[in-house]
Amino acid sequence: MHRIKSIEWLGNTVRLIDQTKLPTEELYIETDSLDVLADAIIKLKVRGAPALGVAAAYGIVLGTQKNISSSKEKFFQSFENSAALIARTRPTAKNLFWALERMRTVLRQNKDNDTATLFEKLKHEALALHVEDEVMCLAIGNHGAELVPMNATIITHCNTGALATGGIGTAQAVITTAHEQKKNIRVFADETRPLLQGARLTVWELQKAGVDVTLICDNTAAFVMQKNKIDLVIVGADRIAANGDTANKIGTYNLAVIAQKHGVPFYIAAPTSTIDSSLQNGKEIPIEERSADEVVNGFGKQTAPSGVKVFSPAFDVTPNEFISAIITEKGILRPPFVHSIASIL
Ligand code: MRU
Repeated sequence: MHRIKSIEWLGNTVRLIDQTKLPTEELYIETDSLDVLADAIIKLKVRGAPALGVAAAYGIVLGTQKNISSSKEKFFQSFENSAALIARTRPTAKNLFWALERMRTVLRQNKDNDTATLFEKLKHEALALHVEDEVMCLAIGNHGAELVPMNATIITHCNTGALATGGIGTAQAVITTAHEQKKNIRVFADETRPLLQGARLTVWELQKAGVDVTLICDNTAAFVMQKNKIDLVIVGADRIAANGDTANKIGTYNLAVIAQKHGVPFYIAAPTSTIDSSLQNGKEIPIEERSADEVVNGFGKQTAPSGVKVFSPAFDVTPNEFISAIITEKGILRPPFVHSIASIL
């Protein structure tokens, strides 16, 4: 099956599918401008933690590309300006900062080279990071599929597929891998208010993959667990603290609480690049707040009185005690996560 590529390097431009236009329009943006890419990140045209890591790395390449013929000082300055601009776009996904750090390490390690060589090294690193992301997704899919029983019914939240990564996805890779293994699975996809990543993106991707998917409003999940035998909940992550507390799309915590109430295993699937071992627990994770307009005027129709106060965090933090396992590319981590996370890093 032809896999959608969320983001691609085309020689000296970046091409991304504009996720705000899905599922009705398949529109691509191609640019050599870091400003355009940064704006696309802020507006969620490209989104999902691993895809943000790939975008950040390509952003550095775009930002430095225009300074290959400049002085070394100016080239280094363009790196710093690009990294600062990208770091200001979205604060929660660890992968974005992790990718910037990787690029910075390459710059440091090669600082004595000329600007053309430096640029080639940076570009090479961004491409390598993207390939690693693809490999990582496949490994997560394979490890996670072991946790999916035959005839399983699964609930998922937000979008964690090819659109959210540089490969086939994280939580969604587990779903599609189990589907390819003919496990006869069924999925309930939360619509994921306010920006409907579940309805617009997950359903679109799962339908294309031939997975039996049913769309539910976020507030329907408890009723679905009460009425149906749900075998597992699986979601992605934007940042995981050293103790396993996990930031993911707003509404994930609700889902974890009701899963525990109904005795349903609750799994996180994420690459180790999402783990922030510098943070002891989830209270330290920076949570992005989005504009009121996305809640009261999300898709061109006003849905609340003008001037209403709105609180719109993009993510919440699920405490580790609600998490049954964290599926990474290096294997399945079980509680206590302080130990299992430390042992793989
Ligand atoms: O605001 P978004 O759409 O970038 O949020 C994305 C999520 O919360 C995903 O679940 C997470 O990044 C994991 S993507 C594999």
